[in-house]
Amino acid sequence: MKKIKKIINKKNKSKIVCLTAYSKNIAEEIDKHVDIILVGDSLGSVLYNYSSTRKVTLTEMINHSKSVRLGVKKSLMVVDMPFKTYTTKNIALKNAKKILKETKCDAVKLEGGKKVIKQVKYLVKNKIPVMGHLGLLPQSVKGKFKSKGKTSREIKQLMNDAMLLQKTGVFAIVLECIKTPIAKQITKDLKIPTIGIGSSVHCDGQVLVTDDLLGLNETKIKFVKKFLNIKKYINLGLKKYASDVRSKRYPSKKHSY
Ligand code: KIV
Repeated sequence: MKKIKKIINKKNKSKIVCLTAYSKNIAEEIDKHVDIILVGDSLGSVLYNYSSTRKVTLTEMINHSKSVRLGVKKSLMVVDMPFKTYTTKNIALKNAKKILKETKCDAVKLEGGKKVIKQVKYLVKNKIPVMGHLGLLPQSVKGKFKSKGKTSREIKQLMNDAMLLQKTGVFAIVLECIKTPIAKQITKDLKIPTIGIGSSVHCDGQVLVTDDLLGLNETKIKFVKKFLNIKKYINLGLKKYASDVRSKRYPSKKHSY
């Protein structure tokens, strides 16, 4: 709860930095730089080439989260509840409890507003910290990914959902691919922080898929900025290793018993 209060208190003071992690070693490095580590169900497309995050299972989320937990010391750790694991309030509570117990994470994230409000309410009532997620909802998309907040109907729904989630007790809301003025307005209207992804600089924080920003996962998504070409460095090391093995420079005496 202390960690969650710290995140909420950052609103209007300092930006909240969030990144995804799917395993221990990278989580350990990310932990040094961020406020929130999200074990996102984006791991389905990034690691397993699934056509949709709908294919991600609870077991996959739990196993990856257990590994991430080993690398996280200070950040708030949030785990995505995968598709069909929160279809009713009782199912949501059972699965959220399982995620918290087995992964020792701090909170769970659910996609949607009014449609999942009974589930969110029930989790909060049972003292499970919940992060919301509005805008583009990958678990609900069947065709192409499109930005949100273009029509007055969409705008009204986004505004209402954001307010409803806040009233129900979520501690923050991810805003995914929401048009700039709408993300700005929602951020201004809410007392809790918004964490943007493709939703402009006006959100209280920012999240990205780590593999995307490091250039490990090739993607052409508009909102992704490649901060590093990590493949270049990986290949330098691998090339040197292969060359040393082939030329018998490795293993040397120093590396032998
Ligand atoms: O699954 C995920 O990684 C996410 C973030 C990108 C917001 O939900």
